[in-house]
Amino acid sequence: MAFDELRVNGGSYPLAAAVGRTLAETLREDLGLTGTKVACGEGHCGACTVLLDGVPTLSCITLVHTVGNRDVTTIEGLREHPLVASFVRADALQCGFCTPGQIVSAAALVAAIPSPTREEVRHAMSGNLCRCGAYPKIEEAVVTWQD
Ligand code: FES
Ligand code: FES
Repeated sequence: MAFDELRVNGGSYPLAAAVGRTLAETLREDLGLTGTKVACGEGHCGACTVLLDGVPTLSCITLVHTVGNRDVTTIEGLREHPLVASFVRADALQCGFCTPGQIVSAAALVAAIPSPTREEVRHAMSGNLCRCGAYPKIEEAVVTWQD
């Protein structure tokens, strides 16, 4: 099935990507939404996480033509989310490369469980790796996001 538009962060964009192009490539290179990071490019690290109809999805291994009419939310679409401030408040990053993916995954978690425990945070965000080892502060940012 072919789709000719991509819905991202509430906007609609013509989809002219070649078959085989990933969602991450389209977001970053065609739409200029470079907040979505690509690290491993193989579905292992979570850096490229975006939401498809609210579900955390690895955009580096998602072909853009499979997105269909689902709504894509990237970190740029979460600018006003309180999680952004809570990550700053908790100092939940070092290099920051994993941070967009962490916040996107956390946004899906708190939408489902508004007051998650640290265990629930660890479980839900186990696919988001942080090479800087900022996990304790990331957990703190997520469990205190409503403060
Ligand atoms: S860049 Fe997509 S999972 Fe690592
Ligand atoms: S803050 Fe550096 S990879 Fe997570």
